[in-house]
Amino acid sequence: MASYASDTTELAGGSASPRYHGISGEVLHIAMVYLITGFVTFLAMGLLGLTMRLHHAGWLTLSPDWFYRIMTIHGAGMVAALLLAAMGGMIAVLNQTVRLSARWLLVAFQIYFMSLAFVLIAVLAGGFAGAWTALDPLPFHGLTWSVWAGVVMFVGFFCIAIGFLIYSLHLFFALRAKFGGVGNALGWPVLFGRKKSGAEGTPRPPELAAMVVAIVGILTGLSGIAVLVPLFADAAGVIAPINALYAKNFQMFFGHALANLSIYLGVGLVYATLPLLTNRPWASSRLVILAWNLVIILVIIPWSHHLYMDLAQPTPIQILGQVASYAIAPPLILVTILGVMTIVFRSGLRWTAPAILFVLGIWGWVFGGMGAVLDSTIAINNVTHNTMWVPAHFHTYYLLGVASFIWGYLFYLISDLGRLKADRFSAWAAWLYGVGAVGFVMMFYLAGAHSIPRRFDIRLPEWHIYAEIAVPFVVLLGLSILWLTIVMARGLKRAWRQTAAES
Ligand code: HEM
Repeated sequence: MASYASDTTELAGGSASPRYHGISGEVLHIAMVYLITGFVTFLAMGLLGLTMRLHHAGWLTLSPDWFYRIMTIHGAGMVAALLLAAMGGMIAVLNQTVRLSARWLLVAFQIYFMSLAFVLIAVLAGGFAGAWTALDPLPFHGLTWSVWAGVVMFVGFFCIAIGFLIYSLHLFFALRAKFGGVGNALGWPVLFGRKKSGAEGTPRPPELAAMVVAIVGILTGLSGIAVLVPLFADAAGVIAPINALYAKNFQMFFGHALANLSIYLGVGLVYATLPLLTNRPWASSRLVILAWNLVIILVIIPWSHHLYMDLAQPTPIQILGQVASYAIAPPLILVTILGVMTIVFRSGLRWTAPAILFVLGIWGWVFGGMGAVLDSTIAINNVTHNTMWVPAHFHTYYLLGVASFIWGYLFYLISDLGRLKADRFSAWAAWLYGVGAVGFVMMFYLAGAHSIPRRFDIRLPEWHIYAEIAVPFVVLLGLSILWLTIVMARGLKRAWRQTAAES
């Protein structure tokens, strides 16, 4: 178990000396609030995930109604929790070099956090069970819930849209002010050859990532508002039912972008922290800048791969969905993998929990991404659509990718602020996290490859085997997270006091 470090001993996160001490505590304190709220919600949602998998294995029986209610809370809760924690991590990183407003970040958090209450009311009191992507006609026409429950659920989504919009706007203006313009904050002078890479005033990679997320985040928040407001008016009977295809496209854009942006925020945390662990800089080379700039466009256009089965969707948009899904993978993934390999190779990196989680995260991001690209191929999607292949790929890049990045960063931050001494058991726990998560997602993939449907509460006996094998891996995953949580809890009090004292 970790103990506290003196001024000279190595910290559990892998750094020889703390990096986050003495920096504006107020903003850092709020970053911790985001991160810890996200982490606690993730733990609770993980237990709901285990409950569903036990049901799939036939070891626990949930009524159909409760299966779908649990699935709804789990899906919405996980997506929102990881995004929240990633937002918090990015605040902590930016706080080192960019002037941020604690007040605006707190407002964004409060509005975002209200979503949890609305989702719980909709599902637990209202019986809403239409999943986190409830599409027409579900939100307001469920057979087991009334219109008000659908509305309350969507009010929850509205809070996420507004909270994330405020956060993105704040980051956008803060970065624009720091670099004296949007183009500078996106590294255009280097990209177009007016400045050399590394010249003064070039954004560091995490700042670049933050600007990209802020720009797409503003569009995402606005698209959420563009679909939710008419849906509320529709529910109130003020307007005629809105066009289902319009609603579907905007909802899918909103959900797709939120999920993707949490990945990019998580990747930004790796760009910020690996250099501290390896003592090597991660430069904003022209290639890195180009890749991040491309992300702005490439993250926006592939949303329509969620709508291949909608025959009313215009064909060019379907084709765009497939082309864009292929195009998004190479630029950033390749640039990041090359960057990670160059920075880690012969750097003497110690395999502490954050380092292991970051590398696992890259693995999960790549493999989950490959599963997603396969699924976004129209010919393959005809077979894999709504099979377990879908949760397989997104659990891979979420649980092994985004979550590994963020929890690796949280561990690093707490060990830094709480001055936790290095211990080898946390590294073991991080490896076991990888083993548990890989075993768990592999069973989703195998089930998907055998055409077992997703979002099915009914389980035929011959389907049980996949979940029966998955459950022990989930338990292993849970134990590894428990260990990391206990270690972090030991440093948390100090870390919390540290940031509170500097507020
Ligand atoms: C702790 C490990 C986890 C377990 C055991 C777990 C388990 C499950 C299960 C069994 C399902 C239902 C699959 C189906 O029948 O279609 C599911 C769905 C889902 N999970 Fe997880 N999960 C875990 C982690 C995560 C993470 C980290 C995320 C991050 C976003 C996530 C997001 C989702 C989403 C969005 C759905 C789909 C809900 C829907 O179809 O509306 N899960 N999960």
